[in-house]
Amino acid sequence: MAREKWGTRLGFMLAALGSAVGLGNIWRFAFVAGNNGGGAFLLLYLVFILLIGVPLLLTEVSIGRKAQSDVVGSFKKLAPGTPWFLSGFFGVISAFLILGFYSVVAGWSIYYFWKYITGEFFTQPAAGYAGAFGEFTTHAWHPVFWTAVFMAFTIFVVLGGVNKGIEFINKLFMPILAIILIVLAFYSISLDGAMEGLKFLFYPDWSSLRDPSIYLAALGQAFFSLSLGMGAMLTYGSYLSEENKLPGATLGIGLVGTSFAVISGVVIFPAVFAFGIDPASGPKLVFITLPGIFQHMPLGGVVGIVFFFAIIIASLTSSVSMLEVPTAYFMRIFKWSRKFTTILVGITMFVIGIAVSLGFGVWSGVTPIGNNNILDSMDFIASNILLPMGGLSMALFVGWYFTKEQALQGADMTDSIFGGIWYKVVKYIAPIVIILIFLQALGII
Ligand code: PHE
Repeated sequence: MAREKWGTRLGFMLAALGSAVGLGNIWRFAFVAGNNGGGAFLLLYLVFILLIGVPLLLTEVSIGRKAQSDVVGSFKKLAPGTPWFLSGFFGVISAFLILGFYSVVAGWSIYYFWKYITGEFFTQPAAGYAGAFGEFTTHAWHPVFWTAVFMAFTIFVVLGGVNKGIEFINKLFMPILAIILIVLAFYSISLDGAMEGLKFLFYPDWSSLRDPSIYLAALGQAFFSLSLGMGAMLTYGSYLSEENKLPGATLGIGLVGTSFAVISGVVIFPAVFAFGIDPASGPKLVFITLPGIFQHMPLGGVVGIVFFFAIIIASLTSSVSMLEVPTAYFMRIFKWSRKFTTILVGITMFVIGIAVSLGFGVWSGVTPIGNNNILDSMDFIASNILLPMGGLSMALFVGWYFTKEQALQGADMTDSIFGGIWYKVVKYIAPIVIILIFLQALGII
């Protein structure tokens, strides 16, 4: 059977953008930035995006387009008989880990959306928003049920294939998402006291740069939010043909995706400050703090409905890209049908999600890393370690395994004035920065 392909270049761009913009920009960014001091973190994150993220996005997509295969297969095809393909497994493993917890948080969002639709969350529930969140997330099967609903949506889209499933929903949802986030951002800025939030987000407190953990956190966030290092962008690139030029498309995806990240920050932080809440309240920021804020806003119930709807569609356009990574891989090696593979992989991820969900209830005593629960531990391993490792191997592959001509040609950079700079970044700068941050996080330097 012929390999599937995107219908149009715009379809690819929207799908890649859909993959990038998700819970990472809204839920993850909010608490990682909140915990790491705001402005200085945002700045460092933006530096990593421009210096490493955007060049590596082009690198990752170029590997996929050249090889026309999945994360593991691409390395096998371009470097036959070498161990390079092993680096593809960073991607396959991180897809299981990340979608494992992502589907749980997306499931919570569907529950919240539902509670807003029924009007129950328009005003503070009897136990308070914190109490309601606690009751819900510690329940044995309620959150598991909503995780299942979210995984079912994800499986359904991926079952439809590259064109009729993934491309279709991105073309439908991305414009809607863009409009909602921009409207919400204006609304948030218009609140009294919003300035404090904008200051927190845009005015760097340089002393936070002295905390060594901010560097790995910003690097992990840069990879997570651009969907880099997992092979999602590589796999999406593999459904492109040669005539679709890459540099403009990937620069566009990187810049628009990052603007979405900043806009989401503008939606959240002014609101948080306008209502005098501590921005360092962790992963629950979006689920406890924001409903508390919506309640006091004019038309807050409607804002809640729209906000959680936006989170759901943003999550779905990202989760499909994660499910597609192992699906494309298993379809090829076992020659299974798309239908069978998608369902099997999706259900396996759901089972991981059950463990993550129980980590908030009966298994809350399980702390695999430090005193982090199951979700935070999986997030740390996948986002801060596996994604940068995946990105590092792709950079080394294109920078050192390919000749310079092959690298430039694969990325359509042969005639570009930026070709030389891009190549140096991929060959030296990105690997050195990633390795230095790892060494620093390990306490070696
Ligand atoms: N970029 C997505 C988000 O911000 C998450 C993601 C990570 C998707 C890695 C695919 C691969 O929500």
